[in-house]
Amino acid sequence: MEILDGKKISNDIKDELAIQVTELKERGEKVPHLAAVLVGNDGASLTYVGSKVRSCKKIGFESTLIHLPEDTTEETLLQQVDDLNKNTDIDGYIVQLPLPKHIDEEKVLMAVDPDKDVDGFHPTNFGKMALDMESFVPATPFGIMELLRRYDVETEGKHTVVIGRSHIVGRPISILMSQKGKAANSTVSLTHSRTKDLKKFTQEADIIVSALGVPDFLKADMVKEGVVIIDVGITRVPDESRERGYYITGDVDFADVSKKASHITPVPGGVGPMTIAMLLKNTMIARGRHSA
Ligand code: GUN
Repeated sequence: MEILDGKKISNDIKDELAIQVTELKERGEKVPHLAAVLVGNDGASLTYVGSKVRSCKKIGFESTLIHLPEDTTEETLLQQVDDLNKNTDIDGYIVQLPLPKHIDEEKVLMAVDPDKDVDGFHPTNFGKMALDMESFVPATPFGIMELLRRYDVETEGKHTVVIGRSHIVGRPISILMSQKGKAANSTVSLTHSRTKDLKKFTQEADIIVSALGVPDFLKADMVKEGVVIIDVGITRVPDESRERGYYITGDVDFADVSKKASHITPVPGGVGPMTIAMLLKNTMIARGRHSA
C-alpha cells in the first residue's frame, strides 16, 4: 500500500514555482500576483484563504487579501470584481466560496474575467476544459490529476467511480478522468445522492474519488482489493479535547480501507495541500499569458 503524499508533492510543486519566480526576477520581470476576496468570517474559509496567502509569500508571489464584511452587498462585491478585472497588476484572483446567502454566487462568478479566473469556475473555462481546450482547470481536480501523474498511477482503461457531482470537484474530475491523454483515459461513473446501489459501483471501481463530505463513509466492504482511493472530503468534527475544538477527517475510513487499497490519500495531507499548490500553478500560468 502506497500513501499518495499530497503534502510532499505540493511542496515539490511549490519549490518548482519558487525557482520559476527566481528566474523571473533575474530577468527583471514581474512576479505573479494572486488576489483573494473573502466575504464574511466563515472559519474554514478564513483558514483556506490565510493558507493561500502564506503560500504565496513562501514562494515569492505577490498576494492581496480583500476581506469584506458579512453584510457586503452584491453590488459592492461586483464592483470589487470589476476593479480586479481592470487592475493590470493582478494576474489572477479567486472569490472564496461559499458566499453569504444574500449574494448570488453565479452572478459573481460570471463577472470574473476568464483570463484571471485561476479557480477555473467561469463557464468559459469550464466549457473549454470539457472541450479539451486550454483553460484554467479548477485547483482540486487539477491537483488530483497531478497527484496520480506524479505517482505513476495507471488510469488508462480503469473504471473510475466519482462520488459527488459538485461543480468544484465531482463534475470536473469526471471530465478530466475521461479525457484523452496522460493520467486519464479512464471509464468514469459519476455517482451522487440519487444513485441506486452505490455500493455496487464502489465495489467494481479501480479508482474511487470521494467528494461527499460525510466522515468515514467509505468502508472496506465497499471496495475491492487493490483499489486506488482519492479522498476529497474535509469535514471538521467538533472535539472539545483538542486545542482547536475540532479535528479534520475525510470521507474514507482510512484504517479500514487502507488494508485493501493499493494507493490512498490521507486526510489531512492528501488532496488539500495539492489544491493550494495548483492554485499557485494556475497563477503562474496566468502570469505567463499576461506577459505574452
Ligand atoms: N471553497 C471551497 N473550495 C474552494 C476553492 O477551490 N476555491 C474557492 N474560491 N472557494 C472554495
